[in-house]
Amino acid sequence: MASANCILYQGATPVFVDIDRRTLNMDVDLLAAKVRALRDTGCPVKALLPVHVFGQPCDMGRIMDIAREHELVVVEDACEALGAEFEGQAVGTFGHAAVLAFYPNKQMTTGEGGMLVTNDEVWARLFRSLRNQGRDDDGAWLCHVRLGYNYRLDELSAAQMERIEELLHKRERVAAWYTERLQGVAGVQVPYISPRTTRMSWFVYVVRLAAGIDRDAVMDRLAEQGIPTRPYFPPIHLQPLYRERFGYRAGNYPATEDVARRTLALPFHGNLGQAEVETVCRALEEALGSR
Ligand SMILES: Cc1ncc(COP(=O)(O)O)c(C=O)c1O
Repeated sequence: MASANCILYQGATPVFVDIDRRTLNMDVDLLAAKVRALRDTGCPVKALLPVHVFGQPCDMGRIMDIAREHELVVVEDACEALGAEFEGQAVGTFGHAAVLAFYPNKQMTTGEGGMLVTNDEVWARLFRSLRNQGRDDDGAWLCHVRLGYNYRLDELSAAQMERIEELLHKRERVAAWYTERLQGVAGVQVPYISPRTTRMSWFVYVVRLAAGIDRDAVMDRLAEQGIPTRPYFPPIHLQPLYRERFGYRAGNYPATEDVARRTLALPFHGNLGQAEVETVCRALEEALGSR
C-alpha cells in the first residue's frame, strides 16, 4: 500500500499498469502505452514509480527510456530490493531518487523507517533539510527555512548498513535451498529470475501454485502443521480504499489478479536452516497432496 498511498498524500492520482506475469513487476509495454494514452488526452503525467517487487529489479532500461521520451521524473521504490542489480547496476541508482525501507521484514531492519537516495545535488540538499525540521540547507542549526519533519535515522540504527552484504548472502543461501528443493515439485512454480537480474535481493520467497489449486486451503493445511505462510500480495486496486475512491473492480488488472490468487510466501529469513527449509517443503508437498 505504501507505494500507492504516498501518491495520494501529495494529492496526486496513482495510475496503475498491469504486471509482467513472470517478474511480477510492471509490464513496460503497458506502461509505455498508458503514458502515451494519458498524454494524448492532456492528462498531466508527472512521474513514474517503478516498484522492484520482492527484490527483483524492474526493466529500468525501458523505464528510463519512457521517462526521457516524456520528460518524467522517476522515483524507484526499492524498498524490497536493497542490493539488487539490473544489468550490473544497483537499483536505486537509475531514477532521480529512490526509497528503501527498513521495517523488520526487510533484508536489513532498523525497526521502522527507511532511506531516500538521490544523485541530484539540489534534491539531496532539499531532502536533508526536510528530514531535519526544515533547517537551512547550509546546516545553520537554528534557521528553519521550510516546513520540515523529524525523519532522521539514528546512527545506531544506520550502522546496520555495515552488515548488509552478510545479511543478503544469508538470504540468498536460504532462497537457493528452497529453489533446489522445490524445483520440479508438481503444482509449485519457483520464483522466476530474469536473465537481466544480475543480482536478486531476496526479500521474501514466494512460490506460485498451479491454476486450480485452492491456495487458501493449502495455507490452512500448512498452518495446521505450525507453518505460517502469507498470500503476498493482494492487489492494491482491490483494497476498499482504492475501490471506493477510484471505482476499481475485479477484472481491471487481470494478470495482477490472477497471480495474486496463486502466490504464496513461505517462511523466510536469513537464519533459517536447511532442515527447516526441508520441513516447510515437505509440509507443502503434503498440503498439495503430492506426497
Ligand atoms: C514496495 C514497498 N514500498 C514501500 C514500503 C515502505 O513502507 P513503509 O513506509 O510503511 O515502511 C514497503 C515496505 O513495507 C514496500 O514493500
